[in-house]
Amino acid sequence: MAVREIIRMGHPTLRQVARPLVLEELSSRFIDQLIRDMVDTLHQAGGIGLAAPQVNESLRLAIIEIPGGESRYGEIPAMPLTVFVNPEIEVLDGGSAGCWEGCLSVPGLRGFVERPQHIRVRSLDLRGNRLETELHGFFATVLQHEFDHLDGKLYLDRLKDTRLLVFEDLLNAGQAIAGD
Ligand code: NI
Repeated sequence: MAVREIIRMGHPTLRQVARPLVLEELSSRFIDQLIRDMVDTLHQAGGIGLAAPQVNESLRLAIIEIPGGESRYGEIPAMPLTVFVNPEIEVLDGGSAGCWEGCLSVPGLRGFVERPQHIRVRSLDLRGNRLETELHGFFATVLQHEFDHLDGKLYLDRLKDTRLLVFEDLLNAGQAIAGD
């Protein structure tokens, strides 16, 4: 088990546009170890998604694993551990909805961000196979949040109003303003 340090807002890597992986890299020891470490790091942090730039590797790679059930985001559906390499998002119909997002690189805070709720994602898996999937609702929000990291963006950049940025403990205690 190798838990890596999750870099926090202010670290320059979080603001870089990460580079795509080339096919030959996918089977490398380096990427294999990186994914294992990212999984360990995600589990230790208790998160649901982690992008490679958050462990200071500026690569277009992210993992998502959503246990489902009751969480700090309320009742949510499950998604098994999935690796996304060089993902691309296409926004489909369905409008936007808001969610109180948090980020392991911005500990202690939550922000109410509106995002499209119906997207198509095209990416590669670790074998280089094309993966295409259509996502709705919470899943669409989570993937957009993670893939923003690959473009050097944080959810804070998408806040419409800075009053929608609050401390997580106040939000959980019901003392923060509601965003919806
Ligand atoms: Ni994040």
